[in-house]
Amino acid sequence: MTTTLITGGTVVTAEGHTLADVRIDGERVTAVTAPGAAGPAARAVDATGHYLLPGGVDTHTHLEYPIDGFTTRTSDDFHTGTVAAAFGGTTTIVDFTKKEPDHSLYDSFQRRIEAGSRRCVVDFGLHAIAPPLEQQADALADLRRLAREGVSSWKFFMAYPGTQMVDDATLIHGMRLAADEGVLPMVHAENGHLVADAARRLVDAGHTSERHHHAAHSHISEGEAVHRAVAIAESVGSPLFTVHVSSRWAAEEIAAARARGLDVWGETCPQYLLAAYEDYDHDGPEAAAYLCSPPIRERANQEHLWRALATGALSTIGTDHAPFYLGQPDDLPPQKSRSTGYFPKVPNGVPGVEERLMVIHQAGVVEGRIDLRRFVDLTATRPAKLFGLYPRKGTIQAGADADIVVWDPAAEHTITAAGAHSRTDYTLYEGMRVTGRPRKVFSRGELIVDGDELHATPGRGRYLTRAAPDLA
Ligand code: URP
Ligand code: ZN
Ligand code: ZN
Ligand code: ZN
Repeated sequence: MTTTLITGGTVVTAEGHTLADVRIDGERVTAVTAPGAAGPAARAVDATGHYLLPGGVDTHTHLEYPIDGFTTRTSDDFHTGTVAAAFGGTTTIVDFTKKEPDHSLYDSFQRRIEAGSRRCVVDFGLHAIAPPLEQQADALADLRRLAREGVSSWKFFMAYPGTQMVDDATLIHGMRLAADEGVLPMVHAENGHLVADAARRLVDAGHTSERHHHAAHSHISEGEAVHRAVAIAESVGSPLFTVHVSSRWAAEEIAAARARGLDVWGETCPQYLLAAYEDYDHDGPEAAAYLCSPPIRERANQEHLWRALATGALSTIGTDHAPFYLGQPDDLPPQKSRSTGYFPKVPNGVPGVEERLMVIHQAGVVEGRIDLRRFVDLTATRPAKLFGLYPRKGTIQAGADADIVVWDPAAEHTITAAGAHSRTDYTLYEGMRVTGRPRKVFSRGELIVDGDELHATPGRGRYLTRAAPDLA
């Protein structure tokens, strides 16, 4: 067993930060000690002047993920997507699995575990996507079986009628079942009928260019869906996790629910904090780069989300990394240009798994909107707790997996797609200057990223069975 000692760094957790040495034996942290107190080690890493952060935990990615009724899929596979994650300092992802047409939900899950286990370079978990239960009697038994095998989160889509959307009866039934099984139900909260109706009216009026996606996905449709999901969760006694909160009104619904003492949690994403409708409010296919659901909203909305993060109304920052190309590589199904000039058919999703920690550190910590502890809590600790991975993941302490980022808080870096690793041809943060970036990344004690070099073979990442959510 290799022993590693990381010396001279400042260990940062959700509780605070302190100068300390970190001892790693094999895959685990075995001691966090006063500088100089940890004893000899086979390998020493000098981290003087650097932070030691828990490896990032991104509980919202979509790798090799089929969308729009299996007509296309995201451009990163489990290998390229987790390489990008690793370079960005994220050592755990939790991705999604939906029922494939010719397989049961349970079998679809086993196929994803197998694919991820062959290709991932960091550890990965999977959320189950609940199919419309009343149409698929077997899915219910499959969800229960998956819960008992360590799949402690299920996602329900309130959007995308005809492919993913579930009705209220399914939400009621599914959330009750989740409460019984100790599972955290997640919702994509947009009123799918309102969105579809608005989209149809825009198309009928000839407003089909990419930027009109934004008008189809109103703040009201998101706020209404969050309100309804909270009402259902409260009625059946279930906790609730709202993914990708984009609208200030949706965040206010969550704040109100939490103020009433409910176990209601919300995630937002870097694109809602840093990009804005004003960036793509012009006709032309380039706007497709920004299309995701819920949409990237007006710039004035951003400060409300930052405030919700600072006050605790929102609890995690995941990426919803769902990359597509603007161009069209030969070996991929139709990407963003699939239906140039016609927003309803542009694949929804944006990349971001590599940039997450850098852009949030910059806009959050460097620019003074959140402190360093809150940064770690939002991007590693709280997601690990809510999704049943803590304290194995999401912190630096004896017994935890040695997933550690040696972070240089003084490094100057300019974000570009060309300099990044995700399999896509753009980033929403092109040209953004950041201070602070990962220098070395350890995953279960292995140094997998060292500067610009990757030392990780496909398949070294492990599938994570997860405990019940820690809602404390
Ligand atoms: O636009 C998005 N968010 N695409 C990915 C699938 C989803 O809705 O989470
Ligand atoms: Zn979603
Ligand atoms: Zn128009
Ligand atoms: Zn998503």
